[in-house]
Amino acid sequence: MSDKIIVNRLAGSIGAEIIGADVKNEHHWPIIRKAFIDFSVISIREQNITPDDHLTFAKRWGEINVNRFFNSLESYPNIAIVLKEADQTAAIGEDWHTDHSYDTKPAMCSILHAIDLPPYGGDTCFSSQYAAYDALSNKMKKMLDGQYAWHSSRHAFGETAKSDAQHKTGNFKNANKATQDALHPVVITHPLSGKKALYVNSGFTSHIKGLAAWESDSILSGLKQFIASTPRLTCRVSWEPNTLTFWDNRCTQHHAVWDYWPDTRSGERVSILGSERPAA
Ligand code: SIN
Repeated sequence: MSDKIIVNRLAGSIGAEIIGADVKNEHHWPIIRKAFIDFSVISIREQNITPDDHLTFAKRWGEINVNRFFNSLESYPNIAIVLKEADQTAAIGEDWHTDHSYDTKPAMCSILHAIDLPPYGGDTCFSSQYAAYDALSNKMKKMLDGQYAWHSSRHAFGETAKSDAQHKTGNFKNANKATQDALHPVVITHPLSGKKALYVNSGFTSHIKGLAAWESDSILSGLKQFIASTPRLTCRVSWEPNTLTFWDNRCTQHHAVWDYWPDTRSGERVSILGSERPAA
């Protein structure tokens, strides 16, 4: 194989960009897989692909997880549209979150293809949850290891959220299906790397099982604050036309930066079902 594929790290804790790869070429998949395991978030540049190519690449990693709440691409119910338009007052993903953690079997990874980009801004920040766990004190690790937390979709996508700015965008559907609550370990062991990762997020984690509300709130808000305020855990993906970013939801969180109003940004996202539940 003579193709020259370059993998450039984006930051110390997480992230790489890949230049020269073609997701339609299965000979490139081992390099892509290795970079995905090593860096948790990979931005593969210059992927001029169709929705069918996107799905073929996604299916190589596992079964597709159909998002119940995002609008989908016409004729492609498996491809969710991530859209921000000028008249919206809230943007999808503008808080730190892990996709689908409210599911019993959450999406193990997501693959977002940039379609329309604003003239500036619109980056996505990713945070390594391996690095987040490693940075905790031994006493805190000991306290969190073995704990379980509830994750919910109700407050984000459900009937009670219908008056929120996000719902008024018209980008969400099926509020009546937002009934998922899932219990996951607060610290999980990644099935591929064998490393431990923190698995709570601002978007969907509601409380730690077995603790009083004030106890759970103080621990979760401390952890969420830590994630939101620690740049050394992060990398920042700057999108280019046809960038395809592939991230591992089991060991990352992300935050879409909305700094380009009134310009539009859109992308097509495919999520892949995990083969197993997150385990301690
Ligand atoms: C998402 O939260 O999945 C969307 C990320 C992005 O728009 O960059």
